[in-house]
Amino acid sequence: MAFFKKKNQTEVAEADLTRLPKHIAIIMDGNGRWAKKRGLPRTAGHAAGAETFRTIATYCKEIGLDYLTVYAFSTENWKRPQEEVGAIMGLLKKYLLEAIGQMERDRVKMEFFGDLSPLPEELQALCQKTREISKGYDGCQVNICLNYGGRDELLRAAQKFAKDCVEGKADPNHLSEGAFSNYLFSAGVPDPDLVIRPSGELRLSNFLLWQSAYAEFYYTDVLWPDFSKEELHRAIAAYQRRSRRFGGIASC
Ligand code: IPE
Ligand code: IPE
Ligand code: MG
Repeated sequence: MAFFKKKNQTEVAEADLTRLPKHIAIIMDGNGRWAKKRGLPRTAGHAAGAETFRTIATYCKEIGLDYLTVYAFSTENWKRPQEEVGAIMGLLKKYLLEAIGQMERDRVKMEFFGDLSPLPEELQALCQKTREISKGYDGCQVNICLNYGGRDELLRAAQKFAKDCVEGKADPNHLSEGAFSNYLFSAGVPDPDLVIRPSGELRLSNFLLWQSAYAEFYYTDVLWPDFSKEELHRAIAAYQRRSRRFGGIASC
């Protein structure tokens, strides 16, 4: 049956996996606090978070989700100590090397949202390779936001649009929302239906600013390394209880 129930839970999560949202986006937050609680270095939290990402991405593929977008490194995360940034880049490299080895079996299409050019060259090459190998795959599409910022994305889109106008390829008097979306990193990907943020923070932190216009939000205090399939079910169940009106009125 496509339902899930966890024992001893006051709020029972019941997710109907036959009515999944098309696109789930996750702000993978709380790695540092998870490590601190255990007296470990923050980098240990990122390693644990990478494991959770593997588990959740695999599960999303198994249940037949169409799109999963994860926030892995923001345009603001460069402010962190060099050692921490280096460790995150190392974990990404490790993950991509493994993913490349399993791609044919998994058939997950991988994309990257963000300006990859400031990343270590080896990592950029791996992103490119992953993208190339998986571009024809039809399983779940996993979008990893790397050096991603919603404002940066919008600025780049405005620049590209302005350039197209100057070159006569676009007309500023005829710009639709759909046409503008095609200038974003997420071109061709439907907007997220559900945005999940673990770790108790109630903010977007520059994530998918344009695309989240009508997303449903789900926040939980659980830290990302502790996020589980059960938590995902809880989020999907909460989503399924929402009434999405998009500015209209509820149909009864
Ligand atoms: C998210 O976890 C990972 C990145 C932002 C790269 P954090 O490292 O932000 O964890 P907290 O918020 O400090 O606990
Ligand atoms: C958002 O988390 C970015 C990622 C999860 C990659 P942050 O930890 O960077 O966000 P703030 O600083 O709490 O807003
Ligand atoms: Mg954080």
